Amino acid sequence: MCGIIGYIGSRQAGPILLEGLKKLEYRGYDSSGIAVIDDGVISVIKSVGMIKALDEKSKGGSVVSGTVGIGHTRWATHGAPSDENSHPHLSSDKRFAIVHNGIIENFESLRTELKSLGYKFTGETDSEVIAKLIQHHYCGDIISTLRTVITRLEGSYAVGIISADKPDALYAIRKDNPLVVGLGDGENFIASDYTAALEHTKNFVLLGDKEIAEITATETKFYDVDGKQIKKKPYTVEWNIEEAQKGGYAHFMLKEIFEQPRALTRTVRPRIAGDEIKLDGIEFDGDYLSSLERIDIIGCGSAYHAGIVGKSFIEKHCRIPVNNILASEYIYSDPITGPKTLTVIISQSGETADTLSALKIAASRGSRTLAVVNVVQSAIARAADDVLYTHAGPEIAVATTKGYTTQIAALYLIGLKIALKKGSITVKRYKELLSGLVTLPQTVEDMLSEAEVKKVRKYAEKFHNQKCVFFIGRGTDYAASLEGALKLKEISYIHAEAYAAGELKHGTISLIEDHTLTLALVTQEKLYHKMESNIKAVKSRGGTVIALASRANSKIKSCTDMLLTIPDCDDDISPVLTAVQLQLFAYYIALKRGCEIDTPRNLAKSVTVE
Ligand code: F6R
Repeated sequence: MCGIIGYIGSRQAGPILLEGLKKLEYRGYDSSGIAVIDDGVISVIKSVGMIKALDEKSKGGSVVSGTVGIGHTRWATHGAPSDENSHPHLSSDKRFAIVHNGIIENFESLRTELKSLGYKFTGETDSEVIAKLIQHHYCGDIISTLRTVITRLEGSYAVGIISADKPDALYAIRKDNPLVVGLGDGENFIASDYTAALEHTKNFVLLGDKEIAEITATETKFYDVDGKQIKKKPYTVEWNIEEAQKGGYAHFMLKEIFEQPRALTRTVRPRIAGDEIKLDGIEFDGDYLSSLERIDIIGCGSAYHAGIVGKSFIEKHCRIPVNNILASEYIYSDPITGPKTLTVIISQSGETADTLSALKIAASRGSRTLAVVNVVQSAIARAADDVLYTHAGPEIAVATTKGYTTQIAALYLIGLKIALKKGSITVKRYKELLSGLVTLPQTVEDMLSEAEVKKVRKYAEKFHNQKCVFFIGRGTDYAASLEGALKLKEISYIHAEAYAAGELKHGTISLIEDHTLTLALVTQEKLYHKMESNIKAVKSRGGTVIALASRANSKIKSCTDMLLTIPDCDDDISPVLTAVQLQLFAYYIALKRGCEIDTPRNLAKSVTVE
C-alpha cells in the first residue's frame, strides 16, 4: 500500500526522501514522487514504476534543492499508475503539495464542487481533492485551514503537506491511517511507517485521529480539530536499522526466515519468569475464566492461519471452544459475541483494515479484545483492550515469515497461561510445553543449518516447474499446510492448495495424475498411519510425494518419493518448525523461477483498505 516520508532540517531533502521511499518499497507500489520547497517554489518529480526510475530522473534527489519536502510511493486504487495520478499532488496555484495514504470516500462530491468553482484536476485520484481543498479553504493560517479541511474529508487519510507560504514547516493530518512524526536532532520527519525514518531516529510521536502536526526543524506542535494545542508523549521504537536492511541476504524474505530464532526468542523469553508466564500485565482472573464460553481468533491471510494453529492448541489445553474467523467475513456477519467471548485479534502490521474493523465490532458488542501485534502503537494495538506484542522486529518482505511464527508462539503463551489458571492442564504437561517453547528458537536455529537448507533447496529446485502443488496434513499439519500453500502461491505464482488429508477422497483426489506434486505433512505421531494411507492413495494415482515429517516419523520415507524432516519436538508446537521448512521450500522455488520474491505482483504488505 502507499507510503509517506517527509523531511525538514538542514540537510538536502531530496536524497533523504528518496532513501526513505526505498525503505517503503516493500509495502507495494507502482509509482512514486517527491516534492521539495526550492527557493519559495515547490518542485515536484514523479515517476511510474520502480523507485530506481525516480532515482535516475531526480539524480538521487539532487535536482531539487531545498531542506523541506515530502515523498510518496503510490499503490494505485483510483486511477491507473501515471504521472498525473502519482503523488505529490499540487494545488492549482502550486502553493501547496500533498501526499496521501488512504481513501477519501466523498472525493467525487468534493471534486464536483471544486470543479464548479473553477479548480482544474489533472488526474483521477481521490487524493487530488485534498490539495485543491487546502487551497480553497486557505485563510492565511495553515492550522485553521487544515481544521476546516478535516471537517470536509470523509474516509481514511494520512496526509503530509508542504506550503510555499510556510517554507520552514511541514504539516500532517490523519484519520484511520498510520502516520508518525520522527524526532531527530535539528531535523524532523513524518512517515507512514517507522522503517522509512529509522535510519535517522528511533524516537517517534504518533499522530492521533483528526489531529494536526506542525513541524519545523527544531520543534513539533500538535493540535486537535478544535485548534487546541495538545501535548504528546514521544516513545522509542526498539528496532534497529540493520533489521530493516538486507544485510548480505539476497532477499528480505530469506533474511527474515533466518531471523526466526531471534524473533521467537524475543516473543517468548521476556514473558517467562521461572515457571510463570507473564504477559505484559495481561491477566485472566478466575471469575473471568469461569464465565468465558468461547474464544474467537480473527485475522487475515497468514494471521488467520496462525489462529488456526492457535485454535488446536488452546482447545486442547484450555478446553474452551475456539472459532477461527476471517476478519473480512466477520465484519459482515452480524457476529454473536459479547462479554463471555474473548476476541483475539492477530495482525503483524496492526493496520489491516478488515482486522481493525472486526476488533471494533467485537468491542462494541462487549467482548474483551486481545491483540497479538508486531508493530508498536499500530491502530490495532491501540484499539484493543490488551496487546501482546510479538517483537519480531521489522518485517519487510511482503510474504510474512517471522511475523507468522511469532504469532503462533504468542498464541501458545496465551493458551498456556489460560490453561494453567483454569486448571485444564497438569503442571507436568504445562512445564513440558513451557520448556519446549523456551528451546524452540534453538531448534529452529538447528534446522536452519546449511545442510538442512541445502536439502530443501535441492527439492524445491527440482519442482520449480510444477503447475500445481497440493499440501496435505491432518490436525495441526493441516493448519500448517494452509500456510505452506499460501507461501508458495504468493511468491512463486504456482497454484497451490491445502487439503485436510482425510478430505482428499471426497473429491480432490480426482486432480491427482502422473507427477502431480503433493507435500504431505506427517509430524503428528498419532496420525502417522492415517497419513500413510493418504500418501499411498496419492502415490497409487501416479502422484509424486514429498513427505515433511518429524524425525520420529521418518520411516514414512518408504512410501514417498522424497523426505524432508523437522527435528523432534513436542507435537503441539511442531507447526512452527514445519512453517520454516515450507517457507524455505516456497522461497527456493520462487528463486529458481526468477520471481520478485520480496514484492510479489499485486500484493501489498499492509492492507489498509477493505
Ligand atoms: C501472507 C501475508 C498476508 C498477511 C495478511 C494479514 O504472507 O503476509 O496474508 O498475513 O495480509 O496481515 P497482518 O498480519 O499485517 O494483519
